[in-house]
Amino acid sequence: MQVVKTIEELRSIVKWWRGEGHSVGLVPTMGYLHEGHKSLIVKAVSENDRVVVSDFVNPTQFGVNEDLDSYPRDIDRDAALCEEAGADVIFHPEPEEMYAFGNCTFVDMDHLTKGLCGKTRPTHFRGVCTVVSKLFNIVTPDRAYFGEKDAQQLAVIRRMVRDMNFNLTIVGCPIVREEDGLAMSSRNTYLNPAERKAALILHKSLTMGQEMIEAGEKDVQKIKNAIVKQIKTERLARIDYVELVDTETLEPVKTITGSILTAIAVYIGKTRLIDNFTVKDQGE
Ligand code: PAJ
Repeated sequence: MQVVKTIEELRSIVKWWRGEGHSVGLVPTMGYLHEGHKSLIVKAVSENDRVVVSDFVNPTQFGVNEDLDSYPRDIDRDAALCEEAGADVIFHPEPEEMYAFGNCTFVDMDHLTKGLCGKTRPTHFRGVCTVVSKLFNIVTPDRAYFGEKDAQQLAVIRRMVRDMNFNLTIVGCPIVREEDGLAMSSRNTYLNPAERKAALILHKSLTMGQEMIEAGEKDVQKIKNAIVKQIKTERLARIDYVELVDTETLEPVKTITGSILTAIAVYIGKTRLIDNFTVKDQGE
């Protein structure tokens, strides 16, 4: 496996692969890789002849008071994990390589990026859409892999691919959890032992919400209230949002019909964590 730092080198490798008739998969990440990322890489390896993992803490998706500087980084560990998972190249550019001096072009999206995480992170999805577009243009993959953990991001990327006519398939991958249910995240490293324990409230409250829906509850307000009430029992938790939305439009819904995403964002101490579940169309 190769660690590649420049766009030019990566392009020449992909050109070589294409000459050999190989298909190419891309797994975009910000590094500090865990089993969640690994599941995406393993899936990409199983579906493509060659796989590129990008490992880049993208500055444009962080707000001014967010954790760009403290975001955890460990390229040596990441490279070992990618190699083990069967990736061919890890693309690890410097910020100046991705954003040349004077860069002033961005990919922005209306509607889907305004609610949920977009409310507290108004410039976040502009940064995500911009860097992911750049990666698609650099790697020109057949398939790109994204986790359902970031459900709004997945919906936004699917819509961007459709709207901008990117010629590739987006593959969504299920959430990977710790044994006790906490969704894996690079940001879990910020939690102290008490916070780590408190963070279980996210999965616990969502499981309860899911059980209510599975038992036939249709009233979204009731489900929302129950989730909020459950989260509030945890002293270290502060709710950012609890929302039930249509999986495609991300518009809030009033009753449970069709495909519904229940998404939450909760501060545990200073760390903001997200989690979600989807109930698929029950053919009503
Ligand atoms: P990052 O947070 O590193 O996540 C990279 C990919 O791994 C995303 O598609 C994310 O949804 C997925 N992922 C993270 N934790 C997961 C888990 N527990 N289970 C399954 N998948 C998981 O998301 C980003 O980076 C960035 O916004 C990026 C798309 C790379 C653009 O910079």
